[in-house]
Amino acid sequence: MNDSSAHAADSADEGPDAAIGQLELVEYPHPALRRVSRPVVRIDDELRDAVRQMFEIMYAEQGVGLAANQVALPYRLFIVNTEGRPDAGEELVFINPQLSRPRGTALQEEGCLSLPGVRMDVRRPERVRVKAYSLAGEVIDADLDGFLARVVQHEFDHIEGRLFTDRLSEASAMEAERALDGFREIFAGMQARGELPNDRQIVARLDALERVRCQA
Ligand code: CO
Repeated sequence: MNDSSAHAADSADEGPDAAIGQLELVEYPHPALRRVSRPVVRIDDELRDAVRQMFEIMYAEQGVGLAANQVALPYRLFIVNTEGRPDAGEELVFINPQLSRPRGTALQEEGCLSLPGVRMDVRRPERVRVKAYSLAGEVIDADLDGFLARVVQHEFDHIEGRLFTDRLSEASAMEAERALDGFREIFAGMQARGELPNDRQIVARLDALERVRCQA
């Protein structure tokens, strides 16, 4: 979605802020979660700080992976630490990732920090190859399996604007739909009370952030 109305002048201020600033986890149905993230062409100090904040948020929420659009950044990157703790495991950053060579199939329960409390079985390829860049600009090229393959595919879905609830069997999808309705009601209520920006303001901010670090 790229509505030209997003560029309409905001009445009081000078338009959306393109500074990253303090990040916060966003929950469904925040519009960033349905946006296809654009490749990053500029890695600067602000983005490195954003990645540091993402790890802090992920650990605080006891997650093992977090995509940039889960903190309302429209960038094609995600982070993973399969141990979910700062003192264990390895902190991985995947920038502009590409997945290929899916093999096998596995069913495993997943949850998502943007859908707190929802846990359901999701079928995915068991193994996959990932190519990406690290935060230092080094090439990552690895064949993944097991839990890491699972987490990377979940996070990759995020930057494509997909959620694990898009991948459920028909019966679980109906069950998930009830939970999603609840999230939609809460989100709409917060927007109506002015506790969250409205969708037009959110999209304008995402567009502004994209202009700073993505391909034109
Ligand atoms: Co998730």
